[in-house]
Amino acid sequence: MLDKKNKSFSSIGIVLGETNIDQYNFCLKNFKAKKGDIVTTDTKIPNDEGEIITVKVWGKIMSINRSNMFFPNEAAQELTNEDIDIRNTILPMTKDELICRVQILGYTHINDKEKLKLKTLNYPVNPAASVNYPSSNEVQKLLASDLGSKHPMYVGNLTARKDVDIFVDTDNMVSRHILITGMSGSGKTVMVRRAVSELMKKQYPILIIDIHGDYLGFVSKAKKYFPDNQVKLFYPNLTVSSGDKEIIYTLIEKLGKSLTEPQNDFLNSMLGKVEYESGTLCNYIKKLIKYSEACTDDRNAKKNGTSFNHVKAATMYVVTRSLKHVLKRLNNMEQTNLRHRNNLPHLKFDELPDSSSEPEKIICKSQLSILYLKGYETLPAGAIVSILMDTLFKHRAENTGEIPPFMTVIEEAHNFIPSRAEDKDGIPSVDTVRKVITEGRKFGTGLMLVSQRPYRLDETIVSQCNSHVIFRVKNERDQRFIKNILENFDNDDAKQLPNLGNGQGVISGQIVNFSLPVQIKFDEHLINDDLGDENFIDVVHQWDDKEIVKQRKKFSKEFEKISSSDMRRPN
Ligand SMILES: Nc1ncnc2c1ncn2[C@@H]1O[C@H](COP(=O)(O)OP(=O)(O)OP(=O)(O)O)[C@@H](O)[C@H]1O
Ligand SMILES: [Mg+2]
Repeated sequence: MLDKKNKSFSSIGIVLGETNIDQYNFCLKNFKAKKGDIVTTDTKIPNDEGEIITVKVWGKIMSINRSNMFFPNEAAQELTNEDIDIRNTILPMTKDELICRVQILGYTHINDKEKLKLKTLNYPVNPAASVNYPSSNEVQKLLASDLGSKHPMYVGNLTARKDVDIFVDTDNMVSRHILITGMSGSGKTVMVRRAVSELMKKQYPILIIDIHGDYLGFVSKAKKYFPDNQVKLFYPNLTVSSGDKEIIYTLIEKLGKSLTEPQNDFLNSMLGKVEYESGTLCNYIKKLIKYSEACTDDRNAKKNGTSFNHVKAATMYVVTRSLKHVLKRLNNMEQTNLRHRNNLPHLKFDELPDSSSEPEKIICKSQLSILYLKGYETLPAGAIVSILMDTLFKHRAENTGEIPPFMTVIEEAHNFIPSRAEDKDGIPSVDTVRKVITEGRKFGTGLMLVSQRPYRLDETIVSQCNSHVIFRVKNERDQRFIKNILENFDNDDAKQLPNLGNGQGVISGQIVNFSLPVQIKFDEHLINDDLGDENFIDVVHQWDDKEIVKQRKKFSKEFEKISSSDMRRPN
């Protein structure tokens, strides 16, 4: 678009009369720049020693207004009413005035040729100065040297300039926390896959909490694309320890029938009496059921001497029924998860190892661990994630030396860390993630949170995310939320959010140094071929009923025949 061949900078406009240290306006030559472009202007400023030096001020075009004062509304009205083509009049079509608003990013010294480190501007730019369009090379140099990253990670290109690569700082990505948000289909998972694949190349251990199976593509592609990494696929097993009594109680209370106060008291006392050895939660609930039934029998037999003389048999009965209900629901979820796994016979799933005694099986150098939670309801899924993250965090915090630093990706994060207004069920993962996110920086337990609905996330947790990638957002509430969490994100930027294409977003925070419009690189080879495209039409085309369904249909057809041949009429 511009003369990029020889010139590092080409003039595209003139700074208008009124400037300040944060922004300036300039008059743009037709078609010479777009919104989001990076521009420069040279200006004189006093330095700390009182000398006057010439510096290059870098800025980003935030908005462009276009007007033609020779074409007033009255003229448009006349042309419309009289059906006249403007080309048949003397009205000028080339007198447009283009005014750009530029947000100042900082300045570099005019003599800096290689290392372009941005400094904060403390003197306004020169009115009437020339505004220049830097070559892609110059922009690239600025982005790379200003980031000054020891471990830069390539994520994509500047949206407005395809030839400028964008890198983010991996050290900040894994030690701090990052929030990736945008509506469904906007490109979040594609971005996470990009980040995960780059971290895998650096042998960094990663744990992904995957509800939909979006990351299973890594398993089948591991041999070809990640020969030096291990990819492990786990299914959950709801094992709790005696220390997790609170979680057990919440699960039973929330998954079961609603209990009255005396019924809850009985449940609580049982939890105190029935020892938790080890094993699955289901086994423990079975033990509780047995115990509760024994108590009911004793009560019915009017045996004295038990500790529950004051509890009515009916109360015990209701609690037993509720426990059976919880057991049934948990078994159902396990079965649903198993059915989903059975649909993927070429993938090897292992039961999630005990995170407290064998954490190294989940987190170790060069390993990507995917916890496949498909089929689990929010509450038990939250309990599983809470127990897992809490134990892994403890290993890091207590410096047991058993696991290295690692990063956790939580997809559909609003399920695990809902905001206070949403969290009616007291999902156990909220507290754990709050702890990990507030203290994680010291222990190398970075989080990458992914959600379609940022305003539904826990406020404390979101405020601890110091890097953001925002993709297309249409919902106004989400847009408002984003404006609040991003510095320098104004109404104009928010208005752009609904129009972003797939994989286009804004990247900001500590992983970059100033917010950048980005087109994320699409690694097509990493999509999951099994579930990637939800091609339901083909699924129906190849559908064959299960044997049991066939038999039921056959039976109901025969039954229809019999009942229609029965011509007796009721009286
Ligand atoms: N960077 C990109 N470049 C090109 N196409 C992209 C890019 N990112 C996403 N897409 C397209 O959009 C589709 C959906 O992307 P993705 O699965 O990342 O959405 P998502 O934001 O995770 O949605 P959901 O919230 O429903 O999970 C991709 O399959 C791909 O076709
Ligand atoms: Mg997704």
